[in-house]
Amino acid sequence: MKTIKVNLGKRSYNIIIGTGIINSIGRIISGLSLGKDAYIITNKRIKDLYGKDISSSLSRSGFNFKFKLIQDSEKSKSLENACVIIKDLALFARKKNVCIIAMGGGVAGDLAGFVAAVFKRGIPYIQIPTTLLAQVDSAIGGKTAVDLKEGKNLVGAFYQPRAVISDTGLLTSLNKRHIRSGLAEIIKYAIIKDKNLFSYLENNLKGLLNLKPSSLEHVITASCKIKASIVEQDEREERGIRTILNFGHTIGHAIETASNYDLYSHGEAIALGMLTACAVSKKLGLINASTVKRIDNLIKASGLPTKIRGTALNKIIYAHYFDKKFIGKKNRFILIDDIGKAKVKEAVSLEIIKEAVKERL
Ligand SMILES: NC(=O)c1ccc[n+]([C@@H]2O[C@H](COP(=O)([O-])OP(=O)(O)OC[C@H]3O[C@@H](n4cnc5c(N)ncnc54)[C@H](O)[C@@H]3O)[C@@H](O)[C@H]2O)c1
Ligand SMILES: [Zn+2]
Repeated sequence: MKTIKVNLGKRSYNIIIGTGIINSIGRIISGLSLGKDAYIITNKRIKDLYGKDISSSLSRSGFNFKFKLIQDSEKSKSLENACVIIKDLALFARKKNVCIIAMGGGVAGDLAGFVAAVFKRGIPYIQIPTTLLAQVDSAIGGKTAVDLKEGKNLVGAFYQPRAVISDTGLLTSLNKRHIRSGLAEIIKYAIIKDKNLFSYLENNLKGLLNLKPSSLEHVITASCKIKASIVEQDEREERGIRTILNFGHTIGHAIETASNYDLYSHGEAIALGMLTACAVSKKLGLINASTVKRIDNLIKASGLPTKIRGTALNKIIYAHYFDKKFIGKKNRFILIDDIGKAKVKEAVSLEIIKEAVKERL
């Protein structure tokens, strides 16, 4: 079991990573002294898989708890659904000190975190991420949100959890596509900050894809350390440091939008976005062809796409103008000087972006 502290003064918390730790959840949460009433937000699939484990652990530690089931889809991350949950929570929370447990992937985590942030102006919540993406990314850092029909994550708050408890054993029931999606974010961390992690991924990919516990623990821990350190320096994305976590996301998000969110998973689109960012970096003379090749090889070997299918250059370029990193008419791209060294570059010419995307069409 590994523990990583996210140092944020009064809002500090631990990320606990291990295999089989779901059976100790009652004891771990008891140690936080948040009272003994828990409201667990999850979906039916996850409750069917792990509800018994979490119930018996919480019961052993004397918790009173309720499962609130949400729809298994991004659609449940809506303001309307948050209201439904808040009203139900208000009934459950009468005469109690409730903490929320977010149990699931990024959808359950973002929604439950948002409810925790706004109910009574903020009540404690714990993240129990059950997808690889949530364990290395969405459960850490305190970004909570729901979607509007006008756009994803448009209503939200920065609100840190009291603990993140990541049981790598829960990933065995996850389908391979979701594993690869999480892997894309791990590759992202390696490219922006950690050359050793990149080599580890190259050398241990088979074990990882077969969910070998020691390999999973290693890469999840390394990824969480990188995210924790970046969040510690720029909790609310005000200092430009957290921006590098968006490596591959400018064109990645554009590919997701241009293909109506139904062709590529987030990680698949990000893999393509990272390759485009590498091509831009090469065109600007920051990296050489062999670095691009190493990254291309790792992405391919992970089973992630390296060619953009089913959408067109003009659609991707149109969609990329909605990127949150634009300042007025000036875009900002996260590029690399080397594997492990990211930097932010402003005003990359449209011609270079188009050429870089074209290389992958
Ligand atoms: N807050 C952040 O910083 C942040 C960062 C990245 C992404 N996100 C958000 O995360 C969401 C995507 O998260 P996701 O990829 O985890 O998707 P998800 O939550 O939809 O989970 C993916 C699927 O896996 C299933 N699942 C989850 N755990 C399982 C398990 N252990 N075994 C079997 N099936 C399991 C879920 O039921 C779901 O069908 C998006 O809404 C995105 O906006 C947030
Ligand atoms: Zn991402």
